[in-house]
Amino acid sequence: MTDMQGQPVFHINGEAGWINDPNGLVLFRGEYHVFFQYYPHAAQWGPMHWGHVKSRDLTHWERLPIALYPDETEDGCFSGSAIEWQGKLWLLYTGFCENGGGENVRQRQCLASSEDGVHFVKHGVVIGEKELPPEYCPWDFRDPKVFRKNGAFYCVAAARKRDGRGRILLFRSDDLFRWEFVLDVLGRDGEGSMTECPDYRDDLGLLLYSEQFQPAAGAAHRNIHSCFARIGTLDLTRGFCGGEGEPVDYGFDFYAPQTFAGAPVMIGWLDMWDRTNPTERYGWAGQLTVPRRIEVQNGELRQTPVYTGREVLRRQDVSFLSDRLKAGAVRLNAENVRSLCLLLHKKGERFVSFSLRGEEWVFDRSRAGEPIRGAERDADSLAGVRRMPCESKERVQIEIVSDNFSVEIFVGGRSLSSVVCAEADADGLELTVDADACEYVRYEIV
Ligand code: FRU
Repeated sequence: MTDMQGQPVFHINGEAGWINDPNGLVLFRGEYHVFFQYYPHAAQWGPMHWGHVKSRDLTHWERLPIALYPDETEDGCFSGSAIEWQGKLWLLYTGFCENGGGENVRQRQCLASSEDGVHFVKHGVVIGEKELPPEYCPWDFRDPKVFRKNGAFYCVAAARKRDGRGRILLFRSDDLFRWEFVLDVLGRDGEGSMTECPDYRDDLGLLLYSEQFQPAAGAAHRNIHSCFARIGTLDLTRGFCGGEGEPVDYGFDFYAPQTFAGAPVMIGWLDMWDRTNPTERYGWAGQLTVPRRIEVQNGELRQTPVYTGREVLRRQDVSFLSDRLKAGAVRLNAENVRSLCLLLHKKGERFVSFSLRGEEWVFDRSRAGEPIRGAERDADSLAGVRRMPCESKERVQIEIVSDNFSVEIFVGGRSLSSVVCAEADADGLELTVDADACEYVRYEIV
């Protein structure tokens, strides 16, 4: 793959301009389609379009024309989802109308369709104020995720109770055009001021959602905006029955994940609101995470990164190793780990570190190139640190997916994803480990 200066090598971005949430993830005619919130004219958020790429293998992405543009009916095409139906590709997204702002804003769910998966025709509002029960705010109603269940269409959408906090609502339709309200999925306020981007998968019993400005509560909530997974079932008369919300990712930069209609694969936005974006200088901001195959094990969401890799280096019984890795992947298998420290994106005394400290994995990007500043004020955030619980030291598998502007780390199905803005030639890797056995394998992305 080509290594363009100032661009990620295999992570989806807008090339030029701003992107945020992944939208409309769908396996359509054997190809994975990914849309995303896109403002093509500047590296800052602006009137939202839907950018579009597709792939056969989830690693090599072909850029397609912009799928949705704002127009005279809406000032922005906000987040949403896709589904295949009767040979066509359908998009359900939020039409955002500014109307002078505040409570005059209107957010309505709109439909678009395509015969070829590339060119889309808009069909207008299908879930508007009429379908939204009056106790919810029509100015905070967005991000529909459509799915099939019991021979009908359903969608979950984010909403907010008047004078309340975030909610997830369920709607039902027979034809994608006429929808009716079914129920409030959790039946109580979310933790954040607003819930965003809900997703439900019946095959896994998985409810995903993002929370804005939820109160801090330990390591699980250190980002000002965070994402949660609940495992259970969606009962069409009682709502969601299941476990509490567990964090989906432990890193700095992970938000608004969505899963593919037609495949148990999830992608998130590998960035965060209320942070600085040093990549602006290259004319872009925002990228998507590596796709992750997902499953539920022992009531928990487990993620494995998906990429096509060719093994280029294998070492057994490592205690110290120095290598090079910028855009590529590394897999470590270690037994009975007493200590482990991995330095990435290293050049001299500048690096990102990932190390075992007591019962935690600790990620530190404070010494990696360009600082990234966020709105968080807790000690870890100010120190450039994120933590992830270490479940076992007996058999440890660590997978690192690294690109020019990111590091995603997977341990035992959990993930920790962060943007890193090191110098272009900061490609050193150093591993120091004390364990009964440690195997190191590096992959080139091909
Ligand atoms: C989440 C979000 C969505 C909204 C979109 C706007 O990151 O705020 O709720 O649809 O971004 O770009």
